Amino acid sequence: MLPQDKSDDEFVTKPPATIGDGFWLKKGTFKSAPTGHTTCFTCHSADTGILPAPQTCAACHQLKPPQPAGDFDAKFAATLGIDNKMMFDSWRRRSSAGTFRHEWFSHAELSCATCHNVLKMDTAKPETTKVGIASCATCHATPTSDDGGALNFEIDSRAKTPTFQCVKCHITFGKMAIPTSHTDAIKAAATAK
Ligand code: HEC
Ligand code: HEC
Ligand code: HEC
Ligand code: HEC
Ligand code: HEC
Repeated sequence: MLPQDKSDDEFVTKPPATIGDGFWLKKGTFKSAPTGHTTCFTCHSADTGILPAPQTCAACHQLKPPQPAGDFDAKFAATLGIDNKMMFDSWRRRSSAGTFRHEWFSHAELSCATCHNVLKMDTAKPETTKVGIASCATCHATPTSDDGGALNFEIDSRAKTPTFQCVKCHITFGKMAIPTSHTDAIKAAATAK
């Protein structure tokens, strides 16, 4: 069994001794979604008559649209020594922050709606399930780096060292160019306070 919930283990698997500040997957990172029909068919059944009926497969299943690139690295994931398809399926689908962890005091205290707009979500349109950086900036962006913002620190580090990789929130995205959403978030944090 992998560590979860009240387990004292912080990491999903034992990190190498040389890990330092490097990233290693922690428990409580991913939330599950309904994995089968049972959840739905308790209400959607022939008995209740609530539509869609179990037999109308197409009401719930469509051809899967192309998926955006995930903040996921299959090679790195393999080195973690985890063989859990469901966890990897979630990770692969993360098109915003691959390292974001749900089970973490400062994150778990927030209402889900701080980051997820459930009414606008359509799983057939991956762009609608993405979490925007504005949801992180309230805490991780500050007027300047000296005020402790991780986003400020990484943007400043990139300016100093062009090869700097952003690792706080990202697995693979952190090697790429800085999106304007990130610099806009810094500007907003600088003017708000
Ligand atoms: C501080 C922001 C934040 C809060 C609060 C939050 N989430 Fe998330 N959640 C995220 C991010 C970021 C992702 C990754 C989205 C992506 O990259 O597509 C995510 C992904 C998910 C997923 C997809 C599986 C996964 O873990 O990648 C589910 C399901 C989910 N959240 C449910 C919830 C529920 C339920 C709550 C409230 C109990 C919640 N979230 C609260 C930020 C948050
Ligand atoms: C607690 C009861 C309940 C559960 C559990 C439930 N549903 Fe529903 N669902 C409803 C009701 C009530 C409606 C509205 C039916 C209507 O308007 O005739 C509905 C409507 C829908 C619709 C039609 C929405 C539309 O816009 O036409 C879809 C699709 C659907 N549900 C999918 C699901 C899926 C997928 C699950 C499982 C993950 C699920 N439901 C679980 C009660 C439930
Ligand atoms: C009320 C909505 C609903 C209806 C109707 C429905 N399903 Fe599903 N189905 C779901 C949900 C929700 C899941 C779980 C999705 C997940 O794991 O991400 C699922 C999962 C599945 C899976 C597993 C998919 C996978 O990726 O492993 C299969 C296969 C499937 N359904 C086939 C069918 C068939 C065939 C029918 C019609 C006889 C049907 N479903 C009717 C909601 C529905
Ligand atoms: C506090 C967390 C956080 C930090 C720090 C962070 N990012 Fe992001 N990043 C996000 C979120 C959330 C998204 C998805 C939504 C968005 O772009 O607003 C994202 C998206 C991206 C994307 C995908 C492109 C896109 O527009 O969706 C790239 C590339 C990226 N970030 C690069 C970087 C780089 C480079 C750094 C370091 C300078 C960095 N990020 C620092 C949270 C972060
Ligand atoms: C309400 C404030 C708040 C929000 C909103 C928030 N965080 Fe955090 N987060 C924190 C605090 C506090 C910490 C602990 C100090 C630190 O590591 O910066 C933390 C830690 C983290 C860590 C390190 C966790 C660990 O276990 O090492 C990551 C990664 C992270 N946040 C990403 C995000 C991303 C991505 C978002 C937006 C989707 C986000 N956070 C939104 C307050 C927040």
